[in-house]
Amino acid sequence: MHFFQYRNNVLFCEEVPVEVIAPEVDTPFYLYSYRTMERHFHVFDSAFQSVPHLVCYSLKANSNIALIRIFEKLGSGADVVSGGELFRALRAGISPSKIVFSGVGKTPQEIEYALENRILMFNAESSQELAAIDDHAEQMGVRAGVALRINPDVDPRTHPHISTGLRENKFGIEFGQALSVFKLAKHLKNLDIVGIDCHIGSQLTEVDPFVAALKKLKELIVALKREGIEIRYMDLGGGLGITYEHEVPPLPSEYAQAILEETEGLDVTLIFEPGRVIVGNAGILVTRVLYTKKTSEKVFVIVDAGMNDLIRPSLYGSFQAILPVVKGKGRGIVADVVGPICESGDFFAKGRRIVEPKQGDLLAIMSAGAYGFSMSSNYNSRARVCEVLVKGNTPFIIRERETDEDLIRGERIPEFLA
Ligand code: LLP
Repeated sequence: MHFFQYRNNVLFCEEVPVEVIAPEVDTPFYLYSYRTMERHFHVFDSAFQSVPHLVCYSLKANSNIALIRIFEKLGSGADVVSGGELFRALRAGISPSKIVFSGVGKTPQEIEYALENRILMFNAESSQELAAIDDHAEQMGVRAGVALRINPDVDPRTHPHISTGLRENKFGIEFGQALSVFKLAKHLKNLDIVGIDCHIGSQLTEVDPFVAALKKLKELIVALKREGIEIRYMDLGGGLGITYEHEVPPLPSEYAQAILEETEGLDVTLIFEPGRVIVGNAGILVTRVLYTKKTSEKVFVIVDAGMNDLIRPSLYGSFQAILPVVKGKGRGIVADVVGPICESGDFFAKGRRIVEPKQGDLLAIMSAGAYGFSMSSNYNSRARVCEVLVKGNTPFIIRERETDEDLIRGERIPEFLA
């Protein structure tokens, strides 16, 4: 469900025709729908309204501070995985008491920064990390809230690059070692062991793996109780998938129902770290056709966005729907939609059936709100693009397009080359 819809063959974002924004900001640009985000957050959050819970929007999906502020206003906390994301969350006004810090490799500086700001908890992933957090807390004379991220060895049945809960993955504490690491953590004087955490992967399209992981966490909670370790927060991570093509992921209500059944009677506050399901279908990448080229093999549609702007198709072979911003009367063709970058991996679609676009036409690459801008880069010295948020009939620029000067900011020619 999203608010990018055609009216009389013209693609609208809420009440604004997409084609009207393009000349204002130039192409390519990301375009987000406020109403879609608000709706997605509300649907997810309210699915758990019957139990104590906290939704911590996962910043990595899209960390523009305007979007973080939207979720802050809707009551969200934040899941951060770097000092940079923590900075963004704080700058956007998220209360530190609603921030969880995940990630397998937190640096000393990041740990200190999070401790200074009294975040809710670290999701710790190894005994060495626990010792490091304890040391820093001791030096700073503060206490650190900690959850242990468990690797439940459950197959999320998603792309291998985004599976995180298998034993072979680098993430979390191996299930078989969890109890002993919890006991060790209990003896670290500056830690408050408040939670248990897992995140098994992203773009999950079934409920079963979530439930399988949850069952394992429950087993541990029981064992921990016997050891006198009381768990207050159960963080189930993110991972709920969205529809890019034909996937039929569980609805948030179905996901919630399965989790609520499994957690009934557990005296814990549930934490969730959704990213994609909140913003994925709330954003598109708008690009202009520069050229079309026919070879004896193929038809290429060459657009002005590249893999540096949206890397998902190249990196994961993922499907992103590509729609005309204004539906024309062209014939159907099968084409590769590619960017200007000097790599054959620079494509948005291969062998895709589309209506033949003309030079200068605008195309919308759909479902680009999550892991689009946040994974973009300056490769080929391309400025990172502008981001626009629409609310009702008003577009707001929430990030300016970078300039040439931005590209070389911080670079220096050493004296000997002067
Ligand atoms: N929590 C943790 C600890 C995570 O590692 C992630 C995602 C999330 C929450 C949010 O997961 P979500 O609800 O968005 O599935 N770049 C990839 C996705 C990488 C996901 C990494 N971790 C992509 O474009 O598909």
